[in-house]
Amino acid sequence: MLEFPQRGDERGHLVIVEGQQDIPFDIKRIFYIYGSDETVVRGQHANRKTEFVLINVAGSCKVKVRDGKGNEAVFLLNRPHTGIYLPKMVWKDMYDFSRDSVLLCLASEHYDAAEYIREYDEYLKFVNEEER
Ligand code: TYD
Repeated sequence: MLEFPQRGDERGHLVIVEGQQDIPFDIKRIFYIYGSDETVVRGQHANRKTEFVLINVAGSCKVKVRDGKGNEAVFLLNRPHTGIYLPKMVWKDMYDFSRDSVLLCLASEHYDAAEYIREYDEYLKFVNEEER
């Protein structure tokens, strides 16, 4: 989990996220997800190249991260000044979205559908082959 600098004052909150400083990569792409709810599971993929930072700038959701080697952890994103860093080649599920959730996603690469692994079996194979 990452904690971002806050420069709020009597006018309101201000949170700063600088590429290469507050997060460990240069930001090449930003997208955001809203209008999901507690019935939805998003993500369900791994990326061969892209690293991400996810921040719930409003509302909340959970992120389950797996490494394909039996380790998994669930993170609650519910504060606009905290984020989760996701290195490449982790399997991620985003779920339990509050109705007001706005999930901001910062990515280290431009979009390339070919670097997404969307089949869990294929992911497991890839992770285990890498080790050999
Ligand atoms: P998807 O990867 O399924 O979203 P999530 O990871 O949140 O579950 O993306 C949904 C659609 O949007 C899919 O058709 C790919 C497209 N897309 C882009 O074209 N560019 C992007 O940067 C992203 C994240 C998705």
